[in-house]
Amino acid sequence: MSRLQRISKIAHVVTRYRLDKLIDTDRLPGSLSLLFAVGPWRLFPEPTMSRGERIRLALEELGPVFVKFGQMLSTRRDLLPPDIADELAKLQDQVPPFDSQLAINIIEQTLAQPIAELYAEFDPSPLASASVAQVHAATLHSGEEVVVKVVRPDIEKVIRQDIKLLFSIAKLVEKYLPDGKRLRPVEVVDDYQHTILDELDLQREGANTSQLRRNSEQSDLLYVPNVFWDYSGHQVLTMERIHGIPVTDIEALKAQNTNMKLLAERGVEIFFSQVFNDNFFHADMHPGNIFVSREHPDQPTYIGIDCAIIGSLSDSDQYYLARNLLAIFQRDYRAVAELHVECGWVPPYTRVNDFEAAIRSVCEPIFQKPISEISFGQLLIYLFQTARRFEMEVQPSLVLLQKTLLNIEGLGRELYPQLDLWSTAQPFLETWLKQRYSPKGIYRQFKKYLPEMLELLPHIPQATQDYLQNTKQIRTQLQEQQQRLATLEQSRNKRQRRTVLTAITLLIAAAGTAWFNEQSFELQTSQWLLLIAAIALLLHR
Ligand SMILES: Nc1ncnc2c1ncn2[C@@H]1O[C@H](COP(=O)(O)OP(=O)(O)O)[C@@H](O)[C@H]1O
Ligand SMILES: [Mg+2]
Repeated sequence: MSRLQRISKIAHVVTRYRLDKLIDTDRLPGSLSLLFAVGPWRLFPEPTMSRGERIRLALEELGPVFVKFGQMLSTRRDLLPPDIADELAKLQDQVPPFDSQLAINIIEQTLAQPIAELYAEFDPSPLASASVAQVHAATLHSGEEVVVKVVRPDIEKVIRQDIKLLFSIAKLVEKYLPDGKRLRPVEVVDDYQHTILDELDLQREGANTSQLRRNSEQSDLLYVPNVFWDYSGHQVLTMERIHGIPVTDIEALKAQNTNMKLLAERGVEIFFSQVFNDNFFHADMHPGNIFVSREHPDQPTYIGIDCAIIGSLSDSDQYYLARNLLAIFQRDYRAVAELHVECGWVPPYTRVNDFEAAIRSVCEPIFQKPISEISFGQLLIYLFQTARRFEMEVQPSLVLLQKTLLNIEGLGRELYPQLDLWSTAQPFLETWLKQRYSPKGIYRQFKKYLPEMLELLPHIPQATQDYLQNTKQIRTQLQEQQQRLATLEQSRNKRQRRTVLTAITLLIAAAGTAWFNEQSFELQTSQWLLLIAAIALLLHR
């Protein structure tokens, strides 16, 4: 589809669902607002559907890249009003499968071998198909059951085109929608662009899967399938097939007597452990990517797949996040405000008192609820919303974290409605902070940075010499400048004294000539001139 065709499709969808109604026509430049006033689409009746429904249907009509965008948008509850977010959450990323022969061609091209040599069996009817990839079941010659994920042919071109259009729309939204700037549309599209392009690269997804598997090897809380690298590339990913129960299938979980409370708590534990211990968290934790092992349901193990999107925080964000979460739950709003300033999330000139009061006013009503009803994710959303008013630029990694937390929490409460997140999180965070600042933790940090320090070591004498020389130079320059200032001051004083003396001389001269003019004390023109000159000189000083 050409660009022109896509633009006309968007125009069609906008008019069909009367999305023009969402535009603030007062903001349009004259000619455009006139166009909107008399535009032919006004003849279309305004649908009786809600604005959220209209946006959702429009996105569905625009195709899978837009649908996926809508899904992502639905998780930005820090930006979107709830009616639209709820409606967008209904979007389903279900796309008809593509021809399995095309899938086979891509696999053979990527792995440079005929399909029969690669797999003992390959099921041509896909297990699942979505906008970016589709998944086939297969068996290796060694007998292992696997799944093969294949990227949709030519999808990259479509994605790049659609993203360009999304950017154009975002700019319009920013300019012409009431509240458009606050929605940060360009930033949101940019974020989406990175996510969807990352998903396109299955080599990257495979690498993330391997890393996550390694990180959770020692734990019986999470199992991550094995990647078969000899059968994988940028467009093909072969991994161990898992046979867990989808986490959404609560009936099946209950039927095998799963310990639902423990399952919910383990979800929280996995999340905190990935964020704080591994600094590598699965950031696409929607229920479709989570399964539960059929083994030992009294000590349930999760199975995680689809590791395309991974989050990680900077060292300092990680540390400040832990302290912030603890401070919020201790209702120490002063500490929360100060921490935000300390770590540079808000500018140093922030009025801490005002910020503290703003945080208090959003958090207090939440804490009136019983702990099982308090949403951690929602608290973070409110906190970031408040901090935005105080010029906080929320980093994408923190947004990802907040979205994941919201998912984990939603999932946990589906499984076990009385889930008390805080009782799992608090001891975890306290232990983590303690360990980090224990002698052992400090030694570990020291060891981590030791190679860099050693690398710097040979440069230290030279750097010290440079530093000393610079300091000396600066000191000399300062002295010179001080001297120059003193000289300037002196000459200014001298000039002032000379002016005063001249003025006095002129005054005396004027008085003297008047004295000698004995006939009368009336001043003559020359005396007037002397007097004026004297006054002028004095005033000028
Ligand atoms: N290792 C696996 N074992 C069994 N089923 C899998 C496996 N990986 C994916 N699937 C099935 O394929 C579906 C889509 O896979 P996923 O990796 O989530 O792709 P997408 O990125 O399109 O969401 C999953 O919901 C699951 O049903
Ligand atoms: Mg998935």
